[in-house]
Amino acid sequence: MDRRTVIAGIAAAPLVAATGVTGTSSASAAEFGGHERHRTLVIGHRGASGYRPEHTLASYELAARIGADFMEPDLVPTKDGVLVCRHEPEIGGTTDVADHPEFAARKVTKVLDGTPVTGWFTEDFTLAELKTLRAKERLPAFRQENTMYDGRFEVPTFVELLELRQRLSRELGRELGVYPETKHPTYFQKAGLPLEQRLLDLLNRYGLNHRGAPVFVQSFETGSLRQLRTLGLRAPSVQLLSAGGAPFDLIDAGDPRTYADLSTPAGLRQIASYANGIGPDKTQIIPRAADGTLGTPTSLVPDAHAAGLVLHPYTFRAENNFLPVDYRRGANLSDFGRGIDEQVTYLKAGIDGLFTDQADIGVIARNEAFKS
Ligand code: G3P
Ligand code: CA
Repeated sequence: MDRRTVIAGIAAAPLVAATGVTGTSSASAAEFGGHERHRTLVIGHRGASGYRPEHTLASYELAARIGADFMEPDLVPTKDGVLVCRHEPEIGGTTDVADHPEFAARKVTKVLDGTPVTGWFTEDFTLAELKTLRAKERLPAFRQENTMYDGRFEVPTFVELLELRQRLSRELGRELGVYPETKHPTYFQKAGLPLEQRLLDLLNRYGLNHRGAPVFVQSFETGSLRQLRTLGLRAPSVQLLSAGGAPFDLIDAGDPRTYADLSTPAGLRQIASYANGIGPDKTQIIPRAADGTLGTPTSLVPDAHAAGLVLHPYTFRAENNFLPVDYRRGANLSDFGRGIDEQVTYLKAGIDGLFTDQADIGVIARNEAFKS
């Protein structure tokens, strides 16, 4: 299906589909993130990053307008301590910083979570300096249409997203959620720019730090979520998991636990002591078979629900390149495949929400999965 057709279809029958749809998974109707726990959420991953350069206000706004319940910012700090929306501190891949000769001398190599990374880093730029840059598409080989917007949008602050959330919630008549992620918390702690109190201060300032707030705070590191609770976070939180490796804070502390350990029933019970849900890689829920086709579900959904946790897996993308081979259409990896069908399959496996680069597809899939 052509991506413009998908957007046009949503625009014609817009936001009704994004409201009032109930899923089937969790037993309790406890409230999380401003939604009943059993309501399946469409989370706009980095906004509507399938249609606009990621982590721009244009990307977040489009996500909301095509039906996302939540807009997802990844957060990193500037040199002057302002939280901005970027997937990682290095900004050479998603901005035009390389075209700015005045910043050429800022190109450095740093060790990020044990891996050398060369480029330009948000913590070396003031907000005023960052605001002279413009965003560009991260994946031009797969998202050529998005390159049309290169050079047009700023790097947004988290405050700007929170203001956008308020404005769009009023305009669209439904309360939009935000799903902020603390990126590389140990790295920024050691850099003297810890993320947690800054995030908490902004959630408090915008009235979003309570149990029923339309918020999930997420992190791949366990310590960041625990620290947020200690500092006074009352909004829901989600422990991100991965199909491999270990949280960097645990590695840094010499703790041998891996994401696989955290994904066991015992590990999930530990997570439930400080978080309300998990955000696993989708392949932890339904792995790929050896031939690249979609395999059979693991026990992660029932195990997490037994621990009282919701599941919001990542990342659903409609392009063939990101789909199981039996969900592809044609040989062009940047063409859209059977992304709706993939999401329906996962929704029927009992997940409570999903991160997707194409929120309109998430809304359509949710309607299909739960139609009577
Ligand atoms: O936060 C959920 C998902 O976004 C995790 O992956 O790398 O896109 O932040 P990443
Ligand atoms: Ca993220």
